[in-house]
Amino acid sequence: MCAAIALLLPLLSYLRDAKGLHQYPAAGPFGIAALTPLWLMYHNWYGIRWKAIEKAHKQLGAVVRISPNHLSFTDPGAYKDIYGHKADIVKDVFYSNMGGSTPNMADATDRADHARKRKYFAAIFSAKNVGMLEPRVMQCVGKLLDCLKVKATGGQVAETDRFPVREDGSFDVRPWLNMFTYDAIGSMMWSESFGFLERGDDLCAAEAANGETKQVHAMEVFQKGVWFSVFCAHLPPLAYNLLRYVTSKSTWTESASDFSSIARHKANKRLTTLPEQPDIFSQFPTETDAKGRPPLPMWEIVAESSVMLNAGNDTTQTTLTNNILLLSIHPEVQSKLRTILTTSIPASSRPVAPYAALSQTPYLRAVIDETFRILTPQRFGLPRRTVSPSLIAGHTIAPSVTISSPLSELHVDASLFTKPKEWIPERWLADNTDFSETERANLKEFVMPFTTGSRACIGRNLAYMEVSIALAALVMAFEWELGDGGIDECFGQFERITSNATKLIVRARPIEG
Ligand code: HEM
Repeated sequence: MCAAIALLLPLLSYLRDAKGLHQYPAAGPFGIAALTPLWLMYHNWYGIRWKAIEKAHKQLGAVVRISPNHLSFTDPGAYKDIYGHKADIVKDVFYSNMGGSTPNMADATDRADHARKRKYFAAIFSAKNVGMLEPRVMQCVGKLLDCLKVKATGGQVAETDRFPVREDGSFDVRPWLNMFTYDAIGSMMWSESFGFLERGDDLCAAEAANGETKQVHAMEVFQKGVWFSVFCAHLPPLAYNLLRYVTSKSTWTESASDFSSIARHKANKRLTTLPEQPDIFSQFPTETDAKGRPPLPMWEIVAESSVMLNAGNDTTQTTLTNNILLLSIHPEVQSKLRTILTTSIPASSRPVAPYAALSQTPYLRAVIDETFRILTPQRFGLPRRTVSPSLIAGHTIAPSVTISSPLSELHVDASLFTKPKEWIPERWLADNTDFSETERANLKEFVMPFTTGSRACIGRNLAYMEVSIALAALVMAFEWELGDGGIDECFGQFERITSNATKLIVRARPIEG
């Protein structure tokens, strides 16, 4: 009986077409995506959602139905219509599914609740104030270089180092970049690094709500937990809750909860120790503060700690890995960047240079921005929901429809950029006559790795600071090349929300002096 209802309801809803979605072609064999979210979930399961969406748009056009109640747009104007400040559009149930009864800043769908949460952190993430966190980043970059010097020469950073170098001298740099971003966010958020780099291992304490503590591998529980949460979140709330209930004892669900428990452990420790300098954690009230704000409940302290640990480790690591990949396969760009850096940064500030100097190096920024364009960390079409009839790229969309636009399509749109799929940092440089002013204006307007509008990334300034310091140091300290076998052997990607690198096998040759 239940199965019959589960099959009949989507069919009836499809036939009724109350929101006028029939007019749009649907993805998948026989347009199956119009009937079930399983088409989207299948591709999410295998981490290849972006490929399926790209193929569907290529075959079916600029507006495609990718789930019964979800339209994907690729017209360049659609992105700002959906995500821009003016839109009467909110985050989709996809996020409220994931947030459940303990939403954090990123998955709060209620506007007032989101604004309240965002206000706590606005000051510390401003361009002026992120400098306070810079010494912590520089210290972690120094440790990363120490570790990589050991790996580059075939060694082990400690007995606990679990990432061996291969016989041919190549190694996977991805976990090292990820252990760096964990250590850095630990230090910036709770004034305590995880110490992963020193140990060459991401084992750390996770504390359950009942106080029980266990050891978990941070990278593994994070990736497994996010993957399964995103997979389930495509379902309508009732089905989502049912699936989560049925899988509550699985390692997938346990991993998501272990990740929050890492944040809980750090938060509990931080509550008993006051740092010498303010950190990100200092920004929210943990007791009634001078402004009269009441303390946040513990669930919210854990939720906000968790989102910072999530956002702070994942996209930044992916960005660094993608940059090293592209520099490795473009040795001429790598060497040009190194020359520019070593001639403009005084020897006393090399290789870990302050952001004030690096932010004056347009070519470094061009490399980072061009990598954001070609391999944007979140190319996933971030789901939003119409509140009232909304005009998206000339289409009037009914209320309560899920809409999204993938950055991966926008960033390589041939009507906006020349040689759109080629990685050419020079296109970003002012006065470069090889590229038009119109193209440069398009780069500024349409390349949005941090998205736009009220839900744009709060960590943008921090990310540029961290990535600039780390990437410049990596390029000044080492010469990078891919391991044997080319890109297919040395690099892979798996899309959760972020399109994470699965590995990046390289050889790193330390540069003396
Ligand atoms: C290269 C690095 C980064 C990229 C490309 C990036 C990208 C993004 C994107 C695309 C979103 C929107 C997500 C959505 O709508 O679901 C977002 C949101 C967010 N990011 Fe980042 N991010 C980066 C680094 C960071 C860092 C370092 C932090 C903090 C330590 C951070 C904290 C957040 C938070 C809290 C949100 C939710 C904002 C809100 O809803 O108001 N991000 N980020």
